[in-house]
Amino acid sequence: MSWKEKLDLDRIPKHIAIIMDGNGRWAKKKGFLRAIGHENGVGSLRNACLTCAQLGVEYLTVYAFSTENWNRPKFEVNALMSLMVSSLKRELKFLQENNTRLEAIGRIENLPKSCQKELKEVMEKTKNNTATVLTVALSYGSKEEIISATKSIAEAYANGEISLDEINEKEIDSRLYTSDKPDPDLLIRTGGEQRVSNYLLWQIAYSELYFTEKLWPEFNDEDLYEAIYDYQNRERRFGKISEQLNS
Ligand code: FPP
Repeated sequence: MSWKEKLDLDRIPKHIAIIMDGNGRWAKKKGFLRAIGHENGVGSLRNACLTCAQLGVEYLTVYAFSTENWNRPKFEVNALMSLMVSSLKRELKFLQENNTRLEAIGRIENLPKSCQKELKEVMEKTKNNTATVLTVALSYGSKEEIISATKSIAEAYANGEISLDEINEKEIDSRLYTSDKPDPDLLIRTGGEQRVSNYLLWQIAYSELYFTEKLWPEFNDEDLYEAIYDYQNRERRFGKISEQLNS
């Protein structure tokens, strides 16, 4: 029986977040340049989008470039930025056929102008698509996101627009990049490392975490079904006890 056949189609996670790790190691293993690993990573992302749309996953949020990734060698940063631009151009047709809406989170203003322009164009052209929202985290860092939300609350407080009592979870949610999305149900990290690397720290408070040794370029449909199957077999208690969930 394949992993797909084992899935409960009525309990598909609404929001999956992915840390697409292992592109560089995959390339090294094959004797390729790291950039080839990233190129093959785009293929895995396309597959993941297709599978999510078919299964009815409403939100897929992927970590494509972190604030820390700016510290990589300049030629790798440039290769990644060019890959974003060429992939966005090439994949527009796929996104349309797949009824997928593209969105972006992070410090988009720090990206090269060509990348910002392509992103804006693809987001505009796909904005009415209704199957899955694919959110790409670019120049994204969760601590930076939380600092920026904190500053905006401090400003609102100083201006008398908000009282201390009104500063709650909902208020903070509303000032994050992800304000219009539910929190991820499942966070997948490929590449064998077991950490969250400054990704959606606030939003994954109650997400199920799934780590796999598979390197991102080799992560395929079956791997995604397996991750969802694993998720479906966990008990999400949100701090309660089992008996409370069953009653
Ligand atoms: C991590 O692997 C991967 C990245 C830093 C980049 C991921 C980006 C893509 C797959 C391209 C996405 C494109 C669009 C248009 C959204 P790594 O380089 O850290 O791998 P390593 O840990 O093996 O060195």
